[in-house]
Amino acid sequence: MASISISKAAKSLGKSVSVEGWIHRKRGSGGIIFIVLRDVTGLMQVAVKKDSVDEKSWNMATDASIESSVKIDGTVHEDKRSPEGFELAAKSFKTVGLSEPFPITEYQSTELLLDKRHLWLRSQKMINAMRARSYIFRYARQFLDKKGFYEVTPPVITKAGGETGANLFELDFFGNKAYLTESSQLYAEAMIFSLEKVYSFIPSFRAENSRTTKHLAEYWHLEPEMAYYDNKKSMALQERLVSHIANQFAQNEDILKIFSISKESLQKIKPPFKKVSYEEALKILNEKGFQVKWGEDFGVEHEKAVTEGEEKPIFIYNWPKEIKPFYMPVNPKDKRTVLCSDLQAPNGHGEIIGGSERIWKYDELIERMKEVEQAKGIKFNMKNYEWWIDLRKYGSVPHSGFGMGMERLIKWILNLDHIRDAIPFPRMSNRLEP
Ligand code: 4AD
Ligand code: MG
Repeated sequence: MASISISKAAKSLGKSVSVEGWIHRKRGSGGIIFIVLRDVTGLMQVAVKKDSVDEKSWNMATDASIESSVKIDGTVHEDKRSPEGFELAAKSFKTVGLSEPFPITEYQSTELLLDKRHLWLRSQKMINAMRARSYIFRYARQFLDKKGFYEVTPPVITKAGGETGANLFELDFFGNKAYLTESSQLYAEAMIFSLEKVYSFIPSFRAENSRTTKHLAEYWHLEPEMAYYDNKKSMALQERLVSHIANQFAQNEDILKIFSISKESLQKIKPPFKKVSYEEALKILNEKGFQVKWGEDFGVEHEKAVTEGEEKPIFIYNWPKEIKPFYMPVNPKDKRTVLCSDLQAPNGHGEIIGGSERIWKYDELIERMKEVEQAKGIKFNMKNYEWWIDLRKYGSVPHSGFGMGMERLIKWILNLDHIRDAIPFPRMSNRLEP
């Protein structure tokens, strides 16, 4: 008999079915063994009675250990006592792959769960976090594809950084220094002159040694770049993108239940989002008793305080130029700031998006890069940026873009304590395995 999923079996009361899965739990007494079977669609109780199966099935069911993969034929019937409300009465039982004693039992340390990540991915928490991740990636692509964006594929190996450049992972490229990309923005910019609205969706790498609950060394970075957009228009796109993802995700009630998230809280995420300037954010912070001076960046506590009580993410726009990268244009209305915005998630989940307008005029860019060199006491290796600066010589246009940290977004939507649970195999300063 061809196998069906557990969720389909649940709708097959009275019918004979065949299911395949893994043993999640098992207990037995005398002539009956109760098994909780797992597949990606859910859990199901199975009763194997000695009297109802042949001897070979009974022996296999007796020997089958936790996490063994099995195939079971039987009849589905209602059973109010089982947690799922139905049960499969086995007619035959076959072990496909016997499991050695599973190294993960209840109440394990976080470190062990990370060491055994390849196995911990079978837990209900991780199964559903990974389903959520897949859906969230899908909704993001869906939204941009529908808006006429082209997905583009920039290189991962680069010659120079596109952000601060301070956290680059260096590698040996046939005797030359190269780096893993920290942002695909510069390459996305190159592609707007042919495709106009593009997005790159690959990992970014940051050699940040900060052990926080929000930083990964390798994270998935969604970076749209749009010709003819100013940052205002870009913010409008960002709030629609984030709302689309949250609203679509609200349909997954089974996942919401596991992470104790209310459907309404996600359905409420709708444009417009609150927009406060850096200046206004400073005022809010100082009213709350913080002493942040003009020009200072925000720390974790500040991010938390600014978003306190917010149900939706909020934009903080036009930051001091000293704390933002070289490609952002100076604000003509306040030359101390640049035309940019960060999107802060509620409940202190942190910055989920960073975006800005880009300097699109050749002379202005050269001048700004020189200014940054002076202000920061650094020296750009202009040769590495030549091709990117070159774009400003051949029919340049105003443009904007942004980068969304997918694991930050997932952390916020699922209300996770730590960003590592938003990605299957986290890479952090103290974690390279498995
Ligand atoms: O603010 P960032 O550094 O901006 C850029 O890289 C721009 N070039 C993006 C663009 O305009 N195309 O990074 C963008 C986002 C942050 O808002 C944050 O959500 C996420 O990337 N991010 C990280 N996520 C996980 N771990 C890290 N170490 C991250 N660093 C940034
Ligand atoms: Mg940022």
